[in-house]
Amino acid sequence: MLLVREIVVILFIKNIANCEKPFKSVPVIVKSYENDTVLLPCYLEGAESKLRVRWYKDSTLLGDSEDAHHHLPPRVRMHANYSLQVDTLGSEDTADYTCEVVRPEPWGPIRQTHSIEVQYSPTVRTIPEDGFLEVRKGEFVDIGCETTGTPEPIVDWRKNGEPMALLDHRSRIKFRAEHRLLAGVYECTANNGVGSPIRAAIRVVIHDAPVVTAERTFVHTAVGLRAALIAKVEFAIPPARISWYRDGRPVNTDERVLIIAQENVHQLIFRSVRMTDLGNYTFRAENKLGMADISFKLTGIPNTPSFKVDPALNKATSTSFTLIWEVDSYSTIIEYILWLRQYHGRHVNTEPDSFTTAPTANFWSKIVVPGDSRDGPIHSAIYVVRGLTPSTVYEAIVTARNRFGWSKQSAVLHFATEPGVGEIKPATIDDTDITPYLEDLEPETYNVSQAQIFEFIDDSKGTGTHETPYLPGMLSFTLIIIIFSSS
Ligand SMILES: *[C@@H]1O[C@H](CO)[C@@H](O)[C@H](O)[C@H]1NC(C)=O
Ligand SMILES: *[C@@H]1O[C@H](CO)[C@@H](O)[C@H](O)[C@H]1NC(C)=O
Ligand SMILES: *[C@@H]1O[C@H](CO)[C@@H](O)[C@H](O)[C@H]1NC(C)=O
Ligand SMILES: *[C@@H]1O[C@H](CO)[C@@H](O)[C@H](O)[C@H]1NC(C)=O
Repeated sequence: MLLVREIVVILFIKNIANCEKPFKSVPVIVKSYENDTVLLPCYLEGAESKLRVRWYKDSTLLGDSEDAHHHLPPRVRMHANYSLQVDTLGSEDTADYTCEVVRPEPWGPIRQTHSIEVQYSPTVRTIPEDGFLEVRKGEFVDIGCETTGTPEPIVDWRKNGEPMALLDHRSRIKFRAEHRLLAGVYECTANNGVGSPIRAAIRVVIHDAPVVTAERTFVHTAVGLRAALIAKVEFAIPPARISWYRDGRPVNTDERVLIIAQENVHQLIFRSVRMTDLGNYTFRAENKLGMADISFKLTGIPNTPSFKVDPALNKATSTSFTLIWEVDSYSTIIEYILWLRQYHGRHVNTEPDSFTTAPTANFWSKIVVPGDSRDGPIHSAIYVVRGLTPSTVYEAIVTARNRFGWSKQSAVLHFATEPGVGEIKPATIDDTDITPYLEDLEPETYNVSQAQIFEFIDDSKGTGTHETPYLPGMLSFTLIIIIFSSS
């Protein structure tokens, strides 16, 4: 007696062309599991007489009914009704099985083909096998997840937990390690609907020269204060050697000048700055693939001044405008220089071509504004520019000087004067009532050194109103300095 333990049969009309009329059985695809038994039919319509039947596995002859089981391999049997039974299925049994009925002359043989698919849950083997790949920047990365399983598993990838936008379900991923950010954990998932999906991961490590950053490279200080130069090593594989230099020589440390490292943050600390500490410093991180430098300037010069935009304080008339600015300096501000000129840029006119027509003289005027006598650190000034032209847009830049030197230039402030008395505002130009705004450009792009300069130095030291000498083509200015000091 035959015990057919479990037969999982899923019937499909596999191939109509194969299903010739005389067959009573229909072609089937049997999806089954390991160790199961499968029975494949081979019945002819109204066949009572004895037939001669051969079974083939793919194109290999398995057995012949006239040849009494002679060719049948282990685990395979042909029954008296010509059904083929395969026991204890294994992966090697996945194949097409063809039953061939040999008929007497003049008829040729007829055939019917079935399939067995022994289903296996997926397995994954990573490439490289240990799931770890280390390359130098620029080298080739070749990783993969080789899968087994029937049906063939579908492979999906994630990098550092995020799904990767690949166009197909490839098992191999190959790329050039062009950038350190390509490093990470590449995880594959293999799924074929049989059992649970299988995951595996490959960690890719890319060696590269260090990357260092600093939030502040221009460090403003004063004698007697504590100051710190801070650099961050964002990346270093292999680990970097760290050093601080001053003028090309390693910084000498003692109980006043310290080097501190916490995780990837490196500090050069001056507990109490001396005059001789001011200067240029370099932080260097170096490994065998390269080095990264960051230059610092420990300086007493003022920070970059900035104009304040405040509608309540930026008072405009037809001929004057009130400017306000602020600067950080630990030392007394000796003077400011305010650069001013009419603005003929893209904002002046809404007519597309109008500003190209008038290359009018557009020189910077230089106004020296006395500083204050406070120690700061925050110094503020208010200055009323007078003698301006009504309905005109101007731009301004300010720099500050203390005993250590000149600050960098501020961002550019744009402002406009009001229309004159009885003047009708030009309908097409309404930019003249623009609210003041600060331009986002690097002020260095304004080549002040190249601009023609009209100089006027106010020597009244900021006391009250001052009559300015007449300068041809120049504005006259009235100076009011108001000094604030915080702390
Ligand atoms: C099939 O039989 C073998 C041998 O007894 C056993 O190792 C294997 O786990 C079985 N497979 C399944 C899916 O039960
Ligand atoms: C063919 O014979 C086998 C074994 O005796 C039996 O299990 C199977 O049901 C038979 N098929 C038909 C259609 O009679
Ligand atoms: C510091 O570096 C700047 C350029 O960044 C250079 O102009 C200046 O002379 C240097 N100062 C010293 C003290 O070397
Ligand atoms: C600024 O002017 C100087 C002197 O004429 C010139 O050498 C330099 O190239 C100019 N810089 C820019 C950014 O135009």
